[in-house]
Amino acid sequence: MSEAQSNLISLGADFPVWDRFFQVFPLVIVGTREIDGTFDLAPKHMAMAMGWENHFGFVCCPTHGTYVNARREGAFTVSYPRPSQVLLASLAAAPRCEGDSKPSLALLETRPATRVDGVLLADAYLHFECETDRVIDDFGKNSLITGRIVEALVAEEAIRRADKDDEQVIFRAPLLAYVAPGRYAEISETFAFPFHAGFSR
Ligand SMILES: Cc1cc2nc3c(=O)[nH]c(=O)nc-3n(C[C@H](O)[C@H](O)[C@H](O)COP(=O)(O)O)c2cc1C
Repeated sequence: MSEAQSNLISLGADFPVWDRFFQVFPLVIVGTREIDGTFDLAPKHMAMAMGWENHFGFVCCPTHGTYVNARREGAFTVSYPRPSQVLLASLAAAPRCEGDSKPSLALLETRPATRVDGVLLADAYLHFECETDRVIDDFGKNSLITGRIVEALVAEEAIRRADKDDEQVIFRAPLLAYVAPGRYAEISETFAFPFHAGFSR
């Protein structure tokens, strides 16, 4: 073993490894329509683009309302909160009460989605409206829910434009990162990635 590797600690694979180190994720609020016509919002950090076209996916537990709703209704929304809205993400994960209700959602201001039957978190900087596509079960107790993005809405100050510097866009509209497990970060300082000359994706 090289000297550089000798200080590595093996975690094995008998138990889930994820609580033993930190990783960076986004933090989104997924919105779905409940069977009674009201709307549910729930935070997800295992959420990302599914490739370069307009597909989106997130990991969800089949016992969650979000999973059942997204399958049944065939649609979901995704809102990216700002760092100043981190408390709202926490409120959206409050335990359900009697009658399966989540009273904390009353504190989250929403506005209607435009292309699907859903709501978006007010003042978030980015939203996707999705039609549910494939749902892949049995990653242990979890599933992957994917959707086709049918509309994307970006706050004016957060959109990339040829006449605006990317660094300044992020500085003025900072991003919220979930640093799993259990921490978050406000990203306002970023650097251009050092792409190799001739790189192409
Ligand atoms: C910061 C944070 C991140 C979370 N990320 C996920 C996730 O990626 N996948 C998941 O299934 N649950 C995740 N959860 C838990 C659920 O979103 C949460 O239990 C929610 O209340 C489920 O609500 P629902 O039954 O209305 O869907 C997260 C919770 C928090 C607080």
